[in-house]
Amino acid sequence: MAKNERLDKLTAAAFGLSRSEAAKAVKGGRVSLNGQTVTDPERKISPTEVIFLDGQRGIYEKYIYIMMDKPEGYLSATEDREGEPVTALLPDGLRRRKLGIVGRLDKDATGLLLLTDNGELNHRLTSPRYHMDKVYRVRLDGRADEEDIRAFADGMELGDFKTMPARLEIMGEGEICLVTIKEGKFHQVKRMFEKRGLTVLSLRRLSIGGLRLDDALGAGGWRYLTAEEKKYLEEKSGIKQKN
Ligand code: URA
Repeated sequence: MAKNERLDKLTAAAFGLSRSEAAKAVKGGRVSLNGQTVTDPERKISPTEVIFLDGQRGIYEKYIYIMMDKPEGYLSATEDREGEPVTALLPDGLRRRKLGIVGRLDKDATGLLLLTDNGELNHRLTSPRYHMDKVYRVRLDGRADEEDIRAFADGMELGDFKTMPARLEIMGEGEICLVTIKEGKFHQVKRMFEKRGLTVLSLRRLSIGGLRLDDALGAGGWRYLTAEEKKYLEEKSGIKQKN
């Protein structure tokens, strides 16, 4: 059974407000439960109760999980550092949640990006111990060949580390390839090709483990993970979500 929590805390979580903003909204008579206005921010309620703010339904979820099709030119960051972070593509309420990125992508890379405020799950999925295969589609300035396939499969010395065996699949003439890696070190795919004398012209992540990029999103599009996708990640990381 989920533990009861204070109304202001759950209102904050359900609508992406700060705790004091939520308390103010409750005191101001803007929040209702079961059709009744509730003005006591300390009132204990179950996280399964549906909260309405200004007549809008909020669904309380302890953690949120978002899939995004990262567009080129955005930083895999949650704050503005040296450019626009991907979170700028999310609505205000979501931006206030402490979202982390599960496996970053370079600024010029596109494709599947996973965001969550479940820090423990993020930590586990990013660890190479959990062996989440990441699949990338790359376009090269030349043609990859059988020798490259072998070099990827053998593991490569990249100076600071040796890669785990990776899979390289050549499409058509060899300028387009699919690469599957287990780790996610900085610029890893680009560095692997560089070592083979090839330059990556574009890189797009298609999947992380069994989680596939939803083609319907389009560049910059996002959606919440489905219950099935969340279950998959929880099982994979060995974490059962407690509400
Ligand atoms: N490998 C790279 O080189 N860049 C990415 O963004 C991801 C993997």
